[in-house]
Amino acid sequence: MTVTAHVATYAQLPLRIVGGRDCRLFAADGREYWDFYGGHAVCIAGHSRPEIRDALAAQADALAFYSNVLPLEVRDRAALRLTRFAGAGMQSVFFCNSGAEANENAMKLAIQRTGRTRIAALTGGWHGRTLLALSATTDAKLLAPLAPLLCDCVKVTPNAIDELERIDETVAAVLVEPILSIAGIVELSAEFLKRLRERCTAVGAMLIYDEIQTGMGRLGRPFVAGAHGVHPDMLTSAKGLANGVPAGALFMSAAVAAGVKSGDLGSTFGGGPLACAAILATLEIIERERLCERAARIGESCRERLCVGPVTHVLGRGCLVGLKIPTGARPVQEALLMRGFITGTSADPAVLRLMPPLTLPEAAIDALAAALAALPGENTANVSPPIAAVATRERH
Ligand SMILES: Cc1ncc(COP(=O)(O)O)c(C=O)c1O
Repeated sequence: MTVTAHVATYAQLPLRIVGGRDCRLFAADGREYWDFYGGHAVCIAGHSRPEIRDALAAQADALAFYSNVLPLEVRDRAALRLTRFAGAGMQSVFFCNSGAEANENAMKLAIQRTGRTRIAALTGGWHGRTLLALSATTDAKLLAPLAPLLCDCVKVTPNAIDELERIDETVAAVLVEPILSIAGIVELSAEFLKRLRERCTAVGAMLIYDEIQTGMGRLGRPFVAGAHGVHPDMLTSAKGLANGVPAGALFMSAAVAAGVKSGDLGSTFGGGPLACAAILATLEIIERERLCERAARIGESCRERLCVGPVTHVLGRGCLVGLKIPTGARPVQEALLMRGFITGTSADPAVLRLMPPLTLPEAAIDALAAALAALPGENTANVSPPIAAVATRERH
């Protein structure tokens, strides 16, 4: 047992990983794993990409840091390339450091702009741990002690069109994940998203897509924004944005950006040169290796091949997949870990989540299908000795 000075806030997988390359992880004991978890949906282009290392080294050599008090070419290039990649009317971007910070700023901007103090979100959504982001998040345990500090949030059930009228003229912004990931890979229908857009426009609320998990190509297109003709007013990104170098981004339409005044938003580290160099290198890989198309194919292969053993349905798309396991996802997660696969659970005890890098080879899906097929379909609890301390909470 290694002694650690870390605060014990994470229930961790019982592994000592010492290295990674693309979709493989290497443990200190010599074992290797297929990474179907992607460092929590972060390592979109695979682990330890030499292109990103080289971009970071070159930038560190030239200028490791300067804040937004100076214009920097690398920041300008990252913003331009990123907004072109995003498309969907997202003409400007504000850089920050994490997903929660991007969501916090999006909601703050909507509150400033509309003069309203309520927000709306979907039941089961996860948006981060800052106070506004937490207000939009569903987690009774986390919310209860902070209740007096949280913003009033109207909750709507995913895909419940008849509940959209709860979003009224008191609501500043509606924050939604286009696929609710932590909730258990809950997809929103095109009809729901269209009606949500219409409702937001009708009552003057801003629509914000939280694409922190669904974006950067993971679902087979740069972002969900623009799909089904639905354009949000703002969009947030983090996780895969710089393939593991901390970075967050708040995209906004021209109309929203036009109203941002000097001093409305700010961050010391946001848009730092190292993060921007990593964003550019990540985009270069995504575009050169056509990772959007690849992600779409991976999703199709998962749907075709992973409905085996204890799995009764395959949910989701691209590289955001849920395996429905009515007998319980956790024992399967444990059994797969013993067999060399890192996967994730969700708030739904019957859904195992896969968020692999978009570079995942077909061989990994074949191997996972074979491992799942070898597990009993009825009851997986006895396939392997339980592993102590397998993560019980995966909300970072
Ligand atoms: C959909 C979604 N939004 C927001 C966040 C918060 O991001 P961060 O942990 O970078 O603050 C997460 C993190 O898991 C997330 O999955």
